[in-house]
Amino acid sequence: MAQVSLRDVSKIYPPDVKAVDNVRFGVENKEFMVLLGPSGCGKSTTLRMIAGLEDITKGDIFIADKRVNNIPAKDRNIAMVFQNYALYPHMTVFENMAFGLKLRKYPKSEIISRVHEAADILGLKKYLDRKPKKLSGGERQRVAVGRAIVRKPTVFLFDEPLSNLDAKLRVQMRTELNKLHLRLQTTMIYVTHDQTEAMTMGNRIAVMKGGTLQQLADPLTIYDKPTNKFVAGFLGTPPMNFLNGKILKKESRLYFDEGKFQVKVNEKMYKKLDGYVGKDIVFGVRPEDIYDKLFTSQPAAENIIRVNCEVVEPMGSEVYLHLNTGLHQFIARVGSHNRPPINQEMDLVIDMSKVHFFDKETESAIV
Ligand SMILES: Nc1ncnc2c1ncn2[C@@H]1O[C@H](COP(=O)(O)OP(=O)(O)O)[C@@H](O)[C@H]1O
Ligand SMILES: [Mg+2]
Repeated sequence: MAQVSLRDVSKIYPPDVKAVDNVRFGVENKEFMVLLGPSGCGKSTTLRMIAGLEDITKGDIFIADKRVNNIPAKDRNIAMVFQNYALYPHMTVFENMAFGLKLRKYPKSEIISRVHEAADILGLKKYLDRKPKKLSGGERQRVAVGRAIVRKPTVFLFDEPLSNLDAKLRVQMRTELNKLHLRLQTTMIYVTHDQTEAMTMGNRIAVMKGGTLQQLADPLTIYDKPTNKFVAGFLGTPPMNFLNGKILKKESRLYFDEGKFQVKVNEKMYKKLDGYVGKDIVFGVRPEDIYDKLFTSQPAAENIIRVNCEVVEPMGSEVYLHLNTGLHQFIARVGSHNRPPINQEMDLVIDMSKVHFFDKETESAIV
């Protein structure tokens, strides 16, 4: 049995806000699970129900084989780290980290040894006598993590712990939390709206939208095989391009017809697309699967499209091309030396083995 199991869990805030809707998943022992989704999709509510800070309206939560629905937060052996750190300003770093253990009446020697061990892991030893206001944002965040570590919980819960840090520090703390997970070998559930954090930290990612679970898989599966248009568009920078069009059949071959261009569908996808011939469909292609024809050895025949290049954005290691077919705007991500002239037509090649198709009505992935 999984370390943490949610069985058809719902949360309705009075009178009728369905914050979490029939969510079902299991987190394995020692796993780093990420809950990813836009603001308001129910991530914090899910985490708070696991922690015992929020009642469960429907369904069951199990932690280490025990149904915890009616077990108070303090008895769940879970530690939670919040976005705003929630440190006590009048206490030193040591006292902040020791506070939870003191409340639970741990012996003094045990408290000292645990706090020093955590401070050592987190590089906080020289700050133990300081008050939080004399620490940087990153150091405060580490104290908040330290306060969780000293408890030696069965499960760590993190609710957007890095979102108050600047971009550079966020990247650094991301790596530190990854290392911490490897070192502690404890189950972690991590909430974020940041798809890069999710991709780089999670063993698996649970993508949520509107209180429901959209897809649960390892990061590469989520990226390469999104189950629907929402998941496809939520991961990746720049995000996947979506172009509306139709599937055409000519001499037993299938084509995607955007209106201004046609590209031949990869034969591997024929079976699943056959039922869509003549129908509206959504074509999805990631910016990195589009190439400037002059700069690629991608096999081109029947995958070439002619578009207008409107903006060229050099990013240093790569270039974003903002393109227009006349009907749709989209973005290609190409090599750093690739600077086509703007407001001129150019030929692009699409890697048709990598594209996606979505049902226009249901937005589910077809292939
Ligand atoms: N205490 C509350 N009372 C009523 N509605 C709430 C409460 N807390 C959250 N909600 C609503 O529940 C939904 C999910 O919120 P939340 O779990 O905080 O989302 P997230 O953490 O993904 O941003 C939102 O629509 C939010 O407005
Ligand atoms: Mg939240």
